Amino acid sequence: MAKVHVFDHPLIQHKLTYIRDKNTGTKEFRELVDEVATLMAYEITRELPLMEKEIDTPVCKATSNVLAGKKLGIVPILRAGIGMVEGILNLIPAAKVGHIGLYRDPETLLPVEYYIKLPSDVSERHFILVDPMLATGGSAIAATDSLKKRGAKNIQFMCLIAAPEGVKAFTEAHPDVDVYIAALDEKLDEKGYIVPGLGDAGDRLFGTK
Ligand code: PRP
Ligand code: URA
Repeated sequence: MAKVHVFDHPLIQHKLTYIRDKNTGTKEFRELVDEVATLMAYEITRELPLMEKEIDTPVCKATSNVLAGKKLGIVPILRAGIGMVEGILNLIPAAKVGHIGLYRDPETLLPVEYYIKLPSDVSERHFILVDPMLATGGSAIAATDSLKKRGAKNIQFMCLIAAPEGVKAFTEAHPDVDVYIAALDEKLDEKGYIVPGLGDAGDRLFGTK
C-alpha cells in the first residue's frame, strides 16, 4: 500500500498559512509556493541512492558520497503544478521536466487530458509528479495513469494540500505510488473544493479568474 507522508515542518506550515490566506497577492503566493516546493523537495529526496567517489581533499585522499546518477524527472500537472517546478529544480537542477496538461471539468469534476510531453527513457526515470491540490484525486490519478501507460515504473506524487477523499481515491488507484503532502485538510465542499484549502490554485498562481 502507498505510504502517505505529511510534512509538518514548522517552516512549511508557516508558509502554508500565508498561501491559504485570501489576502495574499499573486506575487507573494507564487514565491511562497516556490519556497514550500523547495522545502518539500529536500524531504522527498531523502531516500535517493548514493554511491562512493574517490576524491583528493587538500589534506589527503578520501572516499565520499555522491548521488548515484539516478535519472530524475519532474512532471507538473498543468497549470498549477508549474508553480512548484522551479522550487524543486533549486535542489535538483539536472532533473528533466515533463508536462501533463489536465483540467477538471467544472460540471463532472472529471479530468480532461489536453497535453503530454515527457523526457525520453521514461521507464528508466524516477518521476516526481507535482500538483498543489489533491481534491477528488481524479487529476492525479489520470496523470499517474498516463505516466504508467508510457512506461514509468517509479513515481512519487507531491502536493501542497490534500483532501481525505483524494488521498483515499489516489492510494487505492495507485498503491505503488507514495504521496507527499504539506497538509491534510478536512473535506471537499459540494463544488469539489478543498476545505479550508486555498481556493483555486491555478487562478491564484497566475492571477486569472
Ligand atoms: C486543479 C488542481 C488539480 C486539480 C485537483 O486544477 O491544480 O490539478 O484541480 O482536483 P481533483 O483532485 O479533483 O482532480 P484545475 O482543474 O483547476 O486546472 P488548472 O490547474 O488548469 O487551473
Ligand atoms: N482545485 C483547486 O485548485 N482547488 C481546490 O480546492 C480543488 C481543486
